[in-house]
Amino acid sequence: MNAPAATTRTTRVEPIIETRGLVMRFGGVEVLRGIDFGIAPGELRCLVGPNGAGKSTFFKCLTGQYHPSGGEIRFKDKAIGGLPSVEIARRGIGIKTQVPSLYDGLSAREHIWLAVKRRIANTGGLLKEVPIAVDEVMESMGIAHLADRTVGQLAHGQRQMVELSMVIGAQPDLILLDEPAAGMTHDEVERLAALVMRLRGTCSLIVVEHDMQFIRMIARQVTVLHQGQVLMEDDVETVLRDRRVRDVYLGKREVV
Ligand SMILES: Nc1ncnc2c1ncn2[C@@H]1O[C@H](COP(=O)(O)OP(=O)(O)OP(=O)(O)O)[C@@H](O)[C@H]1O
Ligand SMILES: [Mg+2]
Repeated sequence: MNAPAATTRTTRVEPIIETRGLVMRFGGVEVLRGIDFGIAPGELRCLVGPNGAGKSTFFKCLTGQYHPSGGEIRFKDKAIGGLPSVEIARRGIGIKTQVPSLYDGLSAREHIWLAVKRRIANTGGLLKEVPIAVDEVMESMGIAHLADRTVGQLAHGQRQMVELSMVIGAQPDLILLDEPAAGMTHDEVERLAALVMRLRGTCSLIVVEHDMQFIRMIARQVTVLHQGQVLMEDDVETVLRDRRVRDVYLGKREVV
């Protein structure tokens, strides 16, 4: 049998998630205006842009909370645009939303338990594995000491970590974080950055954040959204130096 012919073609890394011409309209208002976007498996991408740029709307389209008005979303090479949220979560996209979604009366452990149990049940695992897996997640996230506290009693940064632990407990292939550092103390932001760096490579991440010091701690490639379009995409230093980026942030938030 002949050996396969040598090829000089460079292999394109297939993106784990990709959007083509993504459009989201509310009534007559076009909030996402044809977004082409993609990240490689294992990549950590930061998504920045001034208030109202469309970042959260973009995430809501990726996770099925909104049914896009146009364009295409592909995840692991399958079209997912418009699928129900539960189905998209089942396929491996996890999100920490901008608006907290915790049950104040439940403990931190009970929250993680919900996420881990769902994953183990969905993947045909043994439910007796749930408690150990829950402990492992809380240990690795540094929140074991909060396990029995009801989340209503926790500080904002601690609540953010519980939410993040729920996302991680579900072991998604792609994690979307919408302003995870908001309301955190400087120490908490540093811990969060270390955690995000640890996750990189084990899964893919898209992080939306306004805190540019946090962005500098974690970012390599950054995509800038402005008025529902990609304004630019480049390495973090180039983006933060860019005149157009400085202009769109002017008078809103400082780009440091
Ligand atoms: N359900 C909706 N109906 C109508 N307009 C919406 C809806 N959701 C978002 N918008 C509008 O879309 C635009 C983008 O909103 P979005 O929340 O995506 O911005 P963002 O980039 O996440 O901003 P922020 O940094 O403040 O969180 C805003 O003008 C907002 O008012
Ligand atoms: Mg937002």
